[in-house]
Amino acid sequence: MRGVAGVYCALVHYPVVDRQGEEVTTSVTNLDVHDIARSARTYGLQGYFVVSPIEAQHPVVHRIVDHWCSGAGRARFPERGEAIALVQVCLSIDDAIAAIEAREGEPPRLVVTSAKAGPGRSSYAKEAQRLRVESRPTLLLFGTGHGLSDRVLRRADAFLEPIIGPTDFNHLSVRAAVAITLDRLLAARTSDKDAI
Ligand SMILES: C[S@@+](CC[C@H](N)C(=O)[O-])C[C@H]1O[C@@H](n2cnc3c(N)ncnc32)[C@H](O)[C@@H]1O
Repeated sequence: MRGVAGVYCALVHYPVVDRQGEEVTTSVTNLDVHDIARSARTYGLQGYFVVSPIEAQHPVVHRIVDHWCSGAGRARFPERGEAIALVQVCLSIDDAIAAIEAREGEPPRLVVTSAKAGPGRSSYAKEAQRLRVESRPTLLLFGTGHGLSDRVLRRADAFLEPIIGPTDFNHLSVRAAVAITLDRLLAARTSDKDAI
C-alpha cells in the first residue's frame, strides 16, 4: 500500500464545547461514521476511532460496522465494508491512545484541528513532511459540536492551522474538514501518482 504508516484519526464527542464554550458531550451520527471511514480508507489511515463516553451510543456504531462488514451491506457494497472495518468505538481519547500504543508499541503524537486561527499553529506542509519521516504513530483529533475542548487542545504535540477558503464563511462540517485535512497531509505526490 502507498502512503504513510501509523496514522489514525479520532472523532471526539467528548470533551467538546457548545456555542457558549461549555464542555458538552455530543451524539454519534451515522453519517460521520460512514463518511469519515471512507476518507480514512482512501488516505491509508490505520484506524478511525469514534470517541464517546456514552456507552448507550456504542451499539449504534457496532450496528453500522456489523451491517457493512458482515451483514447484508457487505454483499452489496464490499468496498464500503473495507472502509467501515477501520472504525473502532471507544470511551475516551485515552482509550484510543492506549489502543494505538498496544498496536504500534508506542503512544501516538497528538495532532489537533480547529476552525480557529491562533498562535503556534503548524502548517499542513510542515506536518505532511513530518508524517513522512516520523517513526511514532500519529493520532489526528477532530471535534464535534463547536470543537475540541481546550483541555484536549492543550495536550497536542501539534495544532494544525485552520482550513480557510477564499471567503470569510468558515463553517465546514467535520466530515468535510477531515477529508480536506487528510488530502493536505497525505495526498499522493505527483511522483507517487506517476508510479501507479
Ligand atoms: C463544526 S466544527 C467546530 C468548529 C469550531 N468553531 C472550531 O473552532 O473548531 C467540528 C470540527 O471540524 C473540524 N473543522 C471544522 N472546520 C475546520 C477548519 N476550518 N479547519 C480545521 N478544522 C476544522 C475541527 O476538527 C472541528 O473541531
